[in-house]
Parts: sequence; C-alpha cells; structure tokens
Amino acid sequence: MSDLTDKAESELSLAAEMRSRQQLKDRRLFLKSGVALTAAGAMTSSAIGDDSESEPTNSPGDRVVMGIMGVNGRGSAIARGMMAAGNTEVAYVCDVDTRAASRVSQLVGEVQKKDPKVVGDFRRILDDNGVDVLVVAAPNHWHAPATILGCAAGKHVYVEKPCSHTPEEGEMAVAAARKHKRIVQMGTQRRSWPGIVEAIQRIHQGDIGKVLYSRTWYNNRRPSIGIGKPTAIPDWLDWRLWQGPAPDRPYKDNVVHYNWHWHWDWGNGELGNNGVHGIDVARWGLDVHYPVRVTAGGGKYRHDDDQETPDTLMVTMDFPEGKSITWEGLSWSPLGPHDSGFGISFHGTEGSLVQQGTGYVMYDMRGKEIAKGNGAGGDKDHFADFLDGVRTGRLTNADIEIAHKSTLLCHLGNIAYRTGSVINTDPDNGHILGNPTANALWGREYAPGWKPEV
Ligand SMILES: NC(=O)c1ccc[n+]([C@@H]2O[C@H](COP(=O)([O-])OP(=O)(O)OC[C@H]3O[C@@H](n4cnc5c(N)ncnc54)[C@H](O)[C@@H]3O)[C@@H](O)[C@H]2O)c1
Repeated sequence: MSDLTDKAESELSLAAEMRSRQQLKDRRLFLKSGVALTAAGAMTSSAIGDDSESEPTNSPGDRVVMGIMGVNGRGSAIARGMMAAGNTEVAYVCDVDTRAASRVSQLVGEVQKKDPKVVGDFRRILDDNGVDVLVVAAPNHWHAPATILGCAAGKHVYVEKPCSHTPEEGEMAVAAARKHKRIVQMGTQRRSWPGIVEAIQRIHQGDIGKVLYSRTWYNNRRPSIGIGKPTAIPDWLDWRLWQGPAPDRPYKDNVVHYNWHWHWDWGNGELGNNGVHGIDVARWGLDVHYPVRVTAGGGKYRHDDDQETPDTLMVTMDFPEGKSITWEGLSWSPLGPHDSGFGISFHGTEGSLVQQGTGYVMYDMRGKEIAKGNGAGGDKDHFADFLDGVRTGRLTNADIEIAHKSTLLCHLGNIAYRTGSVINTDPDNGHILGNPTANALWGREYAPGWKPEV
C-alpha cells in the first residue's frame, strides 16, 4: 500500500469515528481534549449547529491555541511561523533555559499583542484544557515521550524531526496518536512543498519510468565540538528537566545547545538530523515502507573531540519491492553531488529526477534536461496543512505513521553502524530479525519515572 492509500484509509476511519460522535459539527469541541469530546456527544443537535461543513473561517471557534516546548532555535522559528499562519495563539512558551524562554516570550508578546505564559515544565501546558496543540521542538530524546504524553492529555502535536529517539518510541508515538485520535505531524516540511509534491506526482505517474533507486546526501563543514569540561550547572538551566527521559549524566559545557545531536544519549547523529529530511522524500517517491536489509559503513574521522556519532556515514536501505535508497553524510566536507550540500535524486528506467532547492529537474536517459518545476519552500504550507488537519480531523502530510517509517530507516542505519552488522528486517514492520545485539538498540534506558506508556 502506498502512503497515500494508508493515509486515505486512516483518514476515512478517523473521519467516520468523528462523524459518529458528531465531532465535526463543532470543530471547537474537537479541538479540545477527551473531556470536550464527551461533551460534544452529549449536546443536542440544535446546540451544536447543523450538519453542513463550513469553510475554514476566522472565527474564534477555529482558533488553534498552542504551547511550544523548546524555543532556542527551531521552536522560535515555529512560534513565528505559527503566529503568521493566522487564527492561532501561542499561549505558552516553555523552555528549561530561562534565557531562551524570556527572549521568545517577549517576541511572541510583541507579535500577537498578548503575552504568552512562560513555563519551564511542559506538563503545565498539558494541564491546561484551553490548549489544543503541543509543539515539541526540544532535543530528540524528548520527541516521542512528549508526543505520547501530549496525546494522552488530549493535545494534537506538531513534533520536530526525527519523531522518535528509538524505533520502540516511534511505534509508541503512532499508537498514542491513534489511541487518543490526535493529529500528529512531524516537521519534515518538504512533504508540503508544492515543487516537491509535483516532483513526486511525476515519479508516481511514471514520467521517468519505473524508479528503482534514490540517492540522498548531506554535506556540511561543521566545526569541532571540542572536549567538554565538567562545570557547575548554569543558573539559567534546569539540567534534570533538559535530560528528562534520558538517564542522568553529569553536566558538561559543550552539550547545550545543539551539540547534543552528536551524543547517542540525546541525539541521532547527522542521519537522524538532516538525513531524515532526504530519506523521507526518497521513501515517498519510491513508494516503499519497511526495508528488508540495512547496512552502514563509515566512522568518525575528522575531529578528535567528544562527538560520538559518525561524521562520515554511508547507509544502504534495501526494500522488498526491489528498490534501494542510499544516504551519504559528510559533516566535514561541504561539496555534494549536483553542487548541492543537501540532495535527493531518483533513478528510473526512463530517466532521472533531481531535487533542486525547493523544486526539481528531470532528465532523460541521455542526461538531457526535459522538465523542471519549483515552488515555495519554508514552513508555511506544512504549518497550514497541520492546522487544517487539527481543524478538520483529517490526517496530515507528514502524519506520525509516515513519520515513523522514515525515522525508523535512520534508526536502523545508526544501529547497523553502531553494531557493525547487517540488519535484516521484517518487511511488514521493520523489526530486526536474528540479531540480538542490534535488537538491544531497539529501545533505550529511561530515567526513573519517564518510561513512556501508551
Ligand atoms: N524541521 C526543520 O527544518 C528543523 C530545523 C532545525 C531543528 N529541527 C529540530 O528541532 C529540534 C530543536 O532543534 P534546535 O536546533 O532548536 O535545538 P537547540 O538545542 O538549539 O534547542 C532546543 C531547546 O529545547 C530546550 N529544551 C530542552 N529540554 C526541554 C524541556 N524539557 N522543556 C522545554 N524545553 C526544553 C533547550 O533548552 C533548548 O532551548 C531538534 O530536534 C531538531 O532536529 C528541525
């Protein structure tokens, strides 16, 4: 089944469920948590209006109220983008770094002319029945645990990529979204870029023949993160809550912010950082789901520092349909194929297609350019898609199930690298077959009290 088929089927069942509970009659009640859904079921039809679906409006009933967890870099950009989307309110700015929280709350207050509440613990957002959406833009080890708690509290969730820190967490995040009937979208915004959507349509309609292979890559010239010094925890940081579900580690001065990406306790290396963006589009274009085999090679070659994740990594993902995806990540050498540091190319029996910027270029089998397309990039369309999903109950472009399948490929690549083994997987669910050492990395150890449950 294609993602679109998966999506359509899930949408239908979700929509049917909602109709049967009369939720679509009052979007505002749908936006609210399980408590409000019960209320919707109990209301008389005259109290909740007629059956007709109205066009999206600017009415207060369509207003999406959100809290943003983690605002240093990405969360601040999300706050700006979500406010610009219209008929939204950022009601909470949440960060365990008080400097980031006060900087972004000031910005939000100025833009929306209403000060958000500032909290350090995102569970205060979950406690508030007036909040519809939890945005998770904290580090990766928080993504699935916060998503799962958010769904259980009746919130829809916009979660940054990757949607989980381990395969086990990804499966739990999908289960939580389905169990609580919440809309969960991952921040792989290319899923909503019109130029990329058009490229994928061309691939799916056979414009370059049968597509058998997709190459993805990421190149950069990242500096060394150095050797961290154990120091006192800064007074602006709640280090225990920064770690949250991750086991307690002594504080050192080269992790917060951003460099956590290169430590296995909190990050997923470049593969789970920029790799997931390209691999997600490749998987979409090839119309593949779970692999049969994942292998990896590479190492940490460039800098002698605290980084644990590889700076040079080549991953091959083979699928049961007789198709493959590769990813090449070089964190220290900026020159990539097709003169681009980030890219995706598709190779078919009649031609090829290369993602270029926010669009694509298509070539025939002689390498002659035969078509191109482009469109807007950024977050606007992806945020609009998410907000529409929240308002209407339809699944979104990077729904959590799609998100999990793409994120899982990154986890399997990292597991292949870390265990130096060939990872054979069950093509029905991506589970690791006959490799207990690799399977030990399917889940993770949690700090007491933080193991997610669905
Ligand atoms: N979709 C995209 O294009 C895109 C771009 C950049 C980053 N991201 C993703 O966004 C996430 C954040 O990236 P970043 O670059 O902003 O990282 P960052 O380290 O700069 O910021 C993370 C913020 O989260 C805060 N935080 C940590 N624990 C928290 C908690 N318990 N509650 C509230 N806040 C907490 C940190 O204090 C920090 O301010 C990453 O997972 C990254 O992969 C996505």
